[in-house]
Amino acid sequence: MKENIKITDYANRITEALPKGILLNSKHTKFNSMVIGWGGLGTVWGRPTFTVYVREHRYTKAQLDETGEFTISVPMDKPIPLIAKVCGTQSGRDVDKETEANLTLEAPEIIRVPGIKEYPLTLECKILYSQRQELEKIPAEIRAQMYPQDVDGTYFMANQDPHTAYIGEIVAAYMIK
Ligand SMILES: Cc1cc2nc3c(=O)[nH]c(=O)nc-3n(C[C@H](O)[C@H](O)[C@H](O)COP(=O)(O)O)c2cc1C
Repeated sequence: MKENIKITDYANRITEALPKGILLNSKHTKFNSMVIGWGGLGTVWGRPTFTVYVREHRYTKAQLDETGEFTISVPMDKPIPLIAKVCGTQSGRDVDKETEANLTLEAPEIIRVPGIKEYPLTLECKILYSQRQELEKIPAEIRAQMYPQDVDGTYFMANQDPHTAYIGEIVAAYMIK
């Protein structure tokens, strides 16, 4: 069951939860979920948006590029350790995260990507725009820390790959009960 929410009522909750790790879900070949720590609620072209930043070699990136849609799942409490570990350190290329992380999927309202019962605050998003970041434009200190050029792009944390920013229009927002 879902209960529609007003996004602005939950802006603080989303902003607080983000740096601890929320979930970016996608579904093309299969359902997949990855932990994200960067992103943000906003308004672009007069529409409510959630922007995510995804590195080049994430399995998630291929799925987003194919389907143009994603869901965001936010825990109402602390992140669940098994979910945080599986979705934040393993790739959908190698494992089925729905099974490995014991995720309970909830059918979506408008798009084709499910939400997750364990992280009930859900935003369904359709991608309006994507843009690959140019490493040369990133301040040198941040570039050195976040984009070490000697670390292969398949590594699960910071590596040589730039991020692509995806601006998603929020087309549905609800709490899974
Ligand atoms: C706390 C935390 C925050 C993360 N934030 C991001 C992020 O914003 N963007 C990103 O590309 N990867 C981020 N990652 C790394 C991905 O979650 C990780 O590489 C994941 O295994 C990718 O899964 P996939 O290959 O199935 O897409 C983060 C990891 C953790 C633990």
